[in-house]
Amino acid sequence: MTRGSLFVCQQCGNEFAKWFGKCPTCGEWNSLVETVVVSGERLKTRLRKSSGEVKPKTLNSIKISKSSRTSTKIPELDRVLGGGVVAGQVVLIAGEPGIGKSTILLQLADKLGKVLYISGEESAQQLGIRAQRLGIRSKTIQILEETDVDGAIDTINSMVDGNSLKAVIIDSIQTMQTADLSGMAGSAGQVRESAYRLVRLAKTQNLPIFIVGHVTKEGTFAGPALLAHIVDTVLWFEGDKSLTLRLLRANKNRFGPTDEVGIFRMEDKGLISVTSLEKIFLETGKSVPGSAVASVLEGTRPILVEIQTLVVPTKMAFPRRIAQGIDAKRLEVILAVLQKRMGLPLFKFDVFANVVGGIYIKEPASDFALALSIASSYFDKPILTKTVAIGEVGLLGEIREVVAQEKRVKESRRLGFRNVITNKEVKYLNQATKKLFK
Ligand code: TYD
Ligand code: MG
Repeated sequence: MTRGSLFVCQQCGNEFAKWFGKCPTCGEWNSLVETVVVSGERLKTRLRKSSGEVKPKTLNSIKISKSSRTSTKIPELDRVLGGGVVAGQVVLIAGEPGIGKSTILLQLADKLGKVLYISGEESAQQLGIRAQRLGIRSKTIQILEETDVDGAIDTINSMVDGNSLKAVIIDSIQTMQTADLSGMAGSAGQVRESAYRLVRLAKTQNLPIFIVGHVTKEGTFAGPALLAHIVDTVLWFEGDKSLTLRLLRANKNRFGPTDEVGIFRMEDKGLISVTSLEKIFLETGKSVPGSAVASVLEGTRPILVEIQTLVVPTKMAFPRRIAQGIDAKRLEVILAVLQKRMGLPLFKFDVFANVVGGIYIKEPASDFALALSIASSYFDKPILTKTVAIGEVGLLGEIREVVAQEKRVKESRRLGFRNVITNKEVKYLNQATKKLFK
């Protein structure tokens, strides 16, 4: 027998003929992954064949061919990919079930021309219904219901002629399996081996492949974490499923930036690229006590978001602090600073803070706006209209400069916000309240 499979511990590297929940050697739990083994002789011939005539060359003699990028014609997807997809690029689209992975890939297939959509998850019928909903009537999308990765690869190879096939979509990697392993589809071994075979195919055929990978709420499933080093690009699809906002972040990208974020809206006719960010995260222009506007950097773009807080007398010994879209610890720190530096008796109040639009703020640049919204609710006085507050708040109550401050200020002014307040205007938090409340 030249081929078989072994169970290899990912922790200590020992090999076993059968699976154990706990590695008999190092004692690690759930660390055994089924792996294809190739006999020594076969491996030797394969390695020799693949290394062939390759000789070392000097770095400066390497010709840099302009990697031919194909625009996906979806503006926000192009943005995260770095301008389009590169020949032979393997892109993993990761996210929770129901977030919109199949939707965006079907929309992509519609734009690219001849595309093979391999579905192990939904039937052709179901895909047809989705296409109808999206208004897609493309004659060039080929659908294949397949879960055997080797069968899928044979079909792809038979379709690659004269460069007419533009891309392949695998939905999803957790449904793919090879008969060379005995584990079930979705097991770590199957997921890794299937992905590995698809990557090899992408490279030999110079064909872009998009692979869907599911993530569970806990984010621990055999998928993205396992595949990140095998694929070229990992895009994470995020968003609150009950809201329409969807963010696509490049987590790893061999062919483009990792600091860009694609912003979409899930509407009833699919995902819409949101290229103008003017209003999506702001409620009405009227200023109400408890509302303040912050500037948040998403990728390289500053977005204005509204923070709303409600400060109400508590009936509890331990007042409640509820944060949505903001780190709860950050909220605690800002409350402590307001209490100590501005003398607000917030220990007697429940505080509820919320970021409008389903966005999650991770950076301290919105501290200032958060502090102002709390103070505004406490005093029950609205902040002057058309105000944006940009700054980190230090423990002494000082306002600090933030990254890309100038860019945020400019963008805020462009959107018609007259009062852009930073550390240039206000040095300490307690000076701000006099200036900004009506
Ligand atoms: P889907 O792409 O099937 O998610 P995934 O492949 O990541 O599991 O998206 C499913 C959700 O999106 C589903 O709840 C319905 C919603 N949806 C829309 O709101 N509009 C649409 O046009 C489509 C196709 C789906
Ligand atoms: Mg799907």
